[in-house]
Amino acid sequence: MKHEPTRLEIFLTKLAFLFYDKSVYRAFANSLPLKGSDRVLDFGCGMGTVAHYTAKMLSKGHLTCLDISEPWLNECRKNLRGYSNVTFVQTEFPALENESFDLVYCHFVLHDIAEGELGKIIPALVESLKPGGVLVFREPLKETEKISLIKSLMEQNRLFSKDCRITDIPMMGNTLECIYIKQ
Ligand SMILES: C[S@@+](CC[C@H](N)C(=O)[O-])C[C@H]1O[C@@H](n2cnc3c(N)ncnc32)[C@H](O)[C@@H]1O
Repeated sequence: MKHEPTRLEIFLTKLAFLFYDKSVYRAFANSLPLKGSDRVLDFGCGMGTVAHYTAKMLSKGHLTCLDISEPWLNECRKNLRGYSNVTFVQTEFPALENESFDLVYCHFVLHDIAEGELGKIIPALVESLKPGGVLVFREPLKETEKISLIKSLMEQNRLFSKDCRITDIPMMGNTLECIYIKQ
């Protein structure tokens, strides 16, 4: 379901970005298995908190920043201006080219999406990955039911689990990061 951010939400997210920067967003970007020449999708990019770092890591690659919300995508455009290796896509539902990405990541996005939508979005994300491609997500660990559904949809859609780990973020709580590979 589409939810447009208020100015206050945008302001608070900018503050969180300043506060958490290294420990949350940069650390997540650094943990992604990137070679530098990859084609990457940031699904639900928001204001580009993670994209800010991945764009720098893709000197010979390309990053697609996708968000359902035009206001968030505009913030992302502002934060990533100057990068020639980034494309911005606003879409309700990912109409993505098949087998075009080496890696797709979803950072604090999937737990907010309704069950019925996840049943359409996850197969579309998997289709957009090249064979052997990687899907990484990070979600709040307390969203146990949503996480079980996300994991079962990943496995039903030809992804196999490579690794999952729990990270504790001060004031945010525990988060779960999982890496899946497309067979
Ligand atoms: C909590 S924010 C996370 C933003 C960013 N990934 C981060 O970690 O800072 C969730 C983002 O997902 C986007 N989103 C929610 N549902 C979506 C959908 N169906 N397709 C694309 N983006 C979506 C929202 O607009 C929002 O920008």
